[in-house]
Amino acid sequence: MHVGILGGTGPAGRGLGCRLAAAGIEVTLGSRDKARAEGVAAELLAAWPGRGLVVRGDANVAAAEADLVVVATPWEGALGTVQPLRDRLGGKVVVSMVSALVRVGHGVQAVQLARGSFAGTLQAALPGAKIAGAFHHLPAEDLANLDEGLMADVLVCADDAEAREATMALVESIEGLRALDAGRLTQAQAIEAFTAVCIAVNIRYKARTYLRMGGI
Ligand SMILES: NC(=O)c1ccc[n+]([C@@H]2O[C@H](COP(=O)([O-])OP(=O)(O)OC[C@H]3O[C@@H](n4cnc5c(N)ncnc54)[C@H](OP(=O)(O)O)[C@@H]3O)[C@@H](O)[C@H]2O)c1
Repeated sequence: MHVGILGGTGPAGRGLGCRLAAAGIEVTLGSRDKARAEGVAAELLAAWPGRGLVVRGDANVAAAEADLVVVATPWEGALGTVQPLRDRLGGKVVVSMVSALVRVGHGVQAVQLARGSFAGTLQAALPGAKIAGAFHHLPAEDLANLDEGLMADVLVCADDAEAREATMALVESIEGLRALDAGRLTQAQAIEAFTAVCIAVNIRYKARTYLRMGGI
């Protein structure tokens, strides 16, 4: 399995890439600037020697060649990132970890998008791709620290069955994560907006919270 991460040089992409690589998955961190991605990949390998991580950095267009592609740019830049890759992403599972948020004062608020969620917007922009939403509520710092165990639930939503199954399998490949099927892609609106709630709680309690649903 080879996973490409668009915008993989940011905290979210590099943290997820680190965990996926630790699970034995080959990872390409994508960037608008190939040299920056190569630098970030080299930093990751230097930070976690002896773990057999297979991580390389490359341009976003090369990351889009992977079997499964994760979108990890800010929402404002995500459509501009994927649109030139439309043909490459056709037929593939594309996982959005993007939440459309704006800063308001010291916190953030969810943005009301015409299609409800960023994942829905992505599906409309990439009709040939199989879109899923996942990984929205995981703090990047925790993902990036392989010395710390994870214990969190990841809400997965998708309309396409293959997208749902592949994304849930990807989540569960990471030790300590449990994938929960949250239903169709329309659920991404609530899932993405809930990120603003998590951030508000994190700010209020000076914490990095994670999601864990009881009763299952
Ligand atoms: N941070 C978290 O804890 C966290 C957790 C879960 C999900 N997320 C989601 O993951 C996404 C990335 O978060 P982040 O904190 O890693 O963000 P970030 O650092 O602001 O951006 C990630 C990468 O995206 C690329 N990028 C930035 N602006 C861009 C633009 N206008 N157009 C195209 N590419 C652009 C940059 O890579 P290059 O300059 O190398 O191209 C950057 O390193 C967000 O949508 C966020 O909602 C974040």
